[in-house]
Amino acid sequence: MGQTQLVTGGAGFIGANYVHHVLGPGHGADGGADTRVVVLDKLTYAGNLENLRAVADDPRFAFVEADICDREAVERALDAHGVDAIVNFAAETHVDRSIVDPDAFIRTDVLGTHVLLEAARARGLRFHQVSTDEVYGHVPVGTSREADPLAPRSPYSASKAAGDLLVGAYHITYGLHTTITRGANTVGPFQHPEKAVSLFATNALDDLALPVYGDGRQERDYMWVGDHCTAIELVLAAGGPGEAYNVGTGTSIPNLAMAGRVLEVLGKPASLLRHVEDRPGHDRRYALDASKLEALGWAPRYRPLEAIGLTAAWYAENRAWWEPIKRGAFRAYYEENYAHRAVIAPGA
Ligand code: NAD
Ligand code: TYD
Repeated sequence: MGQTQLVTGGAGFIGANYVHHVLGPGHGADGGADTRVVVLDKLTYAGNLENLRAVADDPRFAFVEADICDREAVERALDAHGVDAIVNFAAETHVDRSIVDPDAFIRTDVLGTHVLLEAARARGLRFHQVSTDEVYGHVPVGTSREADPLAPRSPYSASKAAGDLLVGAYHITYGLHTTITRGANTVGPFQHPEKAVSLFATNALDDLALPVYGDGRQERDYMWVGDHCTAIELVLAAGGPGEAYNVGTGTSIPNLAMAGRVLEVLGKPASLLRHVEDRPGHDRRYALDASKLEALGWAPRYRPLEAIGLTAAWYAENRAWWEPIKRGAFRAYYEENYAHRAVIAPGA
């Protein structure tokens, strides 16, 4: 697609992978030479310019440090760069942080999405919202489909659901060409080490305990980040106006299987597993039906255990990326989120 995309949150995990993906060879109408990317990112604790170092000198790439809630800054970036499409990755994303301090989630994930939608509406821009399977809430059996009711249960998922509803309303009310992808738990390079797979891999590499919440039988569909990126690219190009698309492998696995795979790949013992007091309101299971997206021609390249294995191997090879993060402000967060959790008996 010969266009300029504003990629908000592009210094974070999935956004940065997406930028590498669309600026990589073979994309766009002219093999990628005609695709330009402007990353707009506030650089919160989760944003990291290291994630974009490989494209920093690419003439098709530009970076703007700004908050998506700052209407003037957003409009300036859109107009200065002749943007055609907004792809909104920017969000507060970690459930545990949303439990401790929900304010930033409501601000960025709801109000920030609204600012971007208003700017898109004023300019008639294409708008894509990167959302999550968590908006469907806990799914005891079966799989979630796009028309299912949104039933979020954490401040994070509630703020993302509110964003989705606003996007839908802008399509219906103003005819804005919007799309939404609702992705499963995503894993791979550059994920902040607060999330389960990246935390478990980096703790295991340092021979530290892996804090498994509750019985560890909660289920997630762990998807490779590259598969998430191809889905977003496809929906941006071929998704129907006003439509939402689930993105997942179709296989959800228990957290204990995820942790076991991390330990296996890194050659670390099961004695590192430490069952701790559960997360409040913990969703036991997410599971997606992605057949609507598959009908557009998408298929995941990796299954969850493969994706987890590749991710653990990346953290083993990239200590220089994650060690500074874990040494910094992360220590205070870790203390706040984990120090109070009682260790419980396995299976309790
Ligand atoms: P992340 O936490 O790694 O990165 C978020 C990025 O957004 C950071 O670069 C941060 O600096 C930026 N940001 C935060 N607030 C901002 C603001 N007010 N203005 C501008 N930039 C801001 O997140 P991620 O894991 O890459 O997730 C990206 C998107 O994908 C999110 O919308 C998330 O809800 C969604 N998603 C994530 C997953 C997952 O498993 N990680 C799964 C499905 C969907
Ligand atoms: P996470 O990566 O935080 O994603 P989400 O909660 O958004 O799905 O967690 C994935 C799963 O791992 C989830 O069931 C919670 C669990 N978990 C732990 O058991 N221990 C941890 O330290 C973390 C961060 C998560």
